[in-house]
Amino acid sequence: MNNSNVNNLGYIDEELDGSICLVDEINRLKLEKNAVILAHYYQNAEIQDIADFVGDSLALSQKAAQVKADTIVFAGVKFMAETAKILSPASKVLLPDMNAGCSLAESCKYVEFKAFIAKYPDHKVVTYVNTTADIKSLSYICCTSSNAVKVINSIPKGDPIIFAPDRNLGNYLKALSGRDNMIIWDGACHVHEQFSLEKILRLRAEYPKAKFIAHPECPKPILTIADFIGSTQDLLGFVSSDSSTEFIVATESGILHQMVKNEPNKRFIPAPPSSSGCGCNECSYMKLITLKKLYLTLKYELPEVLVDSALIDLARIPIERMLKL
Ligand code: 13P
Ligand code: SF4
Repeated sequence: MNNSNVNNLGYIDEELDGSICLVDEINRLKLEKNAVILAHYYQNAEIQDIADFVGDSLALSQKAAQVKADTIVFAGVKFMAETAKILSPASKVLLPDMNAGCSLAESCKYVEFKAFIAKYPDHKVVTYVNTTADIKSLSYICCTSSNAVKVINSIPKGDPIIFAPDRNLGNYLKALSGRDNMIIWDGACHVHEQFSLEKILRLRAEYPKAKFIAHPECPKPILTIADFIGSTQDLLGFVSSDSSTEFIVATESGILHQMVKNEPNKRFIPAPPSSSGCGCNECSYMKLITLKKLYLTLKYELPEVLVDSALIDLARIPIERMLKL
């Protein structure tokens, strides 16, 4: 079987015997095939719980670079699985649903971006890992929300920068670093763009003791009222280290699973999205991964994420530059 056996919707499907225990079957297949499951914090709770490793984008790329498994099953979105393939080309990398894309990665297309950077040949191109492999191949260095400040500060102050694709993270970094020589691509994530300032202010009034914490992919008005801004991993760290017992959380709601696990005696309130748009704070792409798809992916070793070897060689350079930091 190969990728042509994957259905039009981008995943393997078949009717399952009702008596099958998916968790047991996944664990059995993992051992049989020397496979590891890497999952992002935005995955459904049951996927996080069965994964060998759960992390944010940075930790997942570090893990993908170290892992010695024959097969990596990526419970996340396509750019993450591609990054895993670029860093571990000898492993078979599987993504249970090929439609698990990313609105942020989609907002930065190769042809447009190539033409854009050609206008600024003296600029260093810094891209958030939430991009396709071909965008990475045009980059000097990658970053994630966990290390973006470090990455920006590693570039001499006098060197102009193009930052892509997230305008909110870009503007946040620009303000934080005080660099005027930074041009920002106009992309965004549909989940983080959606939080409603008005509803958050109302929630704050309702829970006056709660700290409001936000991911830097949120727009500036949201970040301006935050008590703490940080990547998924930083938000997790903050709710454990801070003495408050209530938190209003503005990022994808999958993270609440780990927050509750780590701090069962604290209260976590998901920040509400505006009612326009999809009206939810879940990433619809992340949530395409289900236990059933994970099981069938392991069983048939499909769909497989393939990246052209010449592209791997190019895209690997900016990712490794980031990991060296
Ligand atoms: P981090 O994992 O770097 O916090 O990024 C959040 C995100 O949107 C991943 O898709
Ligand atoms: Fe992309 Fe946003 Fe979903 Fe992350 S949460 S995968 S940035 S669409």
